[in-house]
Amino acid sequence: MQIRTNARTDQKLGWIGAGRMGYAMAERLAKAGCDIAVWNRTKAKADPLGKYGAKVVDSLQELAGRDIVFCMVSTWDDVKQVMQKLLSASHKPKMVVESSSISLEGSAELRSMLSAKGIDYLAAPVSGNAKVIKAGKLTIVASGPRKAYDAARPYLDMLGTGSSYVGEGELSRIAKICHNVMLGVVMQNLCEITVLAQKAGMPRHAFLDFLNNSVMGSMFTRYKTPALVNLDFHVTFTPKLLRKDLDLGLDAGREFEVPMPTTSITRDLLQQMIGNGMTGEDFSSLLLMQARASGIELKPENVQVSDGLS
Ligand SMILES: NC(=O)c1ccc[n+]([C@@H]2O[C@H](COP(=O)([O-])OP(=O)(O)OC[C@H]3O[C@@H](n4cnc5c(N)ncnc54)[C@H](OP(=O)(O)O)[C@@H]3O)[C@@H](O)[C@H]2O)c1
Repeated sequence: MQIRTNARTDQKLGWIGAGRMGYAMAERLAKAGCDIAVWNRTKAKADPLGKYGAKVVDSLQELAGRDIVFCMVSTWDDVKQVMQKLLSASHKPKMVVESSSISLEGSAELRSMLSAKGIDYLAAPVSGNAKVIKAGKLTIVASGPRKAYDAARPYLDMLGTGSSYVGEGELSRIAKICHNVMLGVVMQNLCEITVLAQKAGMPRHAFLDFLNNSVMGSMFTRYKTPALVNLDFHVTFTPKLLRKDLDLGLDAGREFEVPMPTTSITRDLLQQMIGNGMTGEDFSSLLLMQARASGIELKPENVQVSDGLS
């Protein structure tokens, strides 16, 4: 939804979480010249942000005096822990923007924790991995009071290609959960068809070249192509984080009485992979499970293929 505002861009920002996503997002705000202070549980991961002008702080409570505090950690339990620490400080921010992928219920609990302290809250989960952020293509879905969205919007714009405001309350959480359910289901299907094409006799890169140029190709199928062709499974998103999101999707399906058969089976396949100890690589290593189940062993093709991002 494109509505322009004259919101300020001179707010003092706080940033919680410098993992794969949080680091890349905070880096964009620091590089854009924002006044930003960053805290990460493992401080060494946040330290390099200092070279872009971010202030890396030792204690979470130091962020309480900032105007807008962003949060990008892992699960609702982690969000709750860091927020409780933030709220235990003597100062309080004007607004919290929470971007981790968490449940509707967790987000609603956070909203009541913050509103009890008079702090505005924008739920703002994101789409894209760290490389997507670097390429300036992150997208954000936001919900909460319109006034909070308008105030945060200039910063959301700096994080990527812009944001979609979907309404009040926790609606953005549902949008993000739906998005990640699609991520898992599409990945599993991409693995199935890539193994099928190879077993029938064609190289993976040739098949994916065709697919990526077809109407079925997408930014996602393109940026996963190097992993599928050359078996480069360095982590962009872990199997366990994806399982969390499929579980959130299945929970929402139960709550709203929506059958989600493809999500259920994808969740089970992912669980098999996790149960086989395949947790340390990217979720796209679902390809290896699919190959094993098809009785073939994959080898890297060592072909240079574009990820469509760089
Ligand atoms: N990766 C993706 O492609 C992607 C895309 C969209 C959304 N997401 C979502 O974004 C969130 C972050 O994902 P990520 O890939 O950046 O994960 P990650 O690399 O594992 O980073 C997790 C971050 O959370 C911090 N953290 C975790 N538990 C904490 C706790 N109890 N107290 C304080 N800090 C804690 C970690 O601190 P330490 O550094 O000290 O461990 C780290 O900064 C997740 O909700 C994920 O589902 C990820």
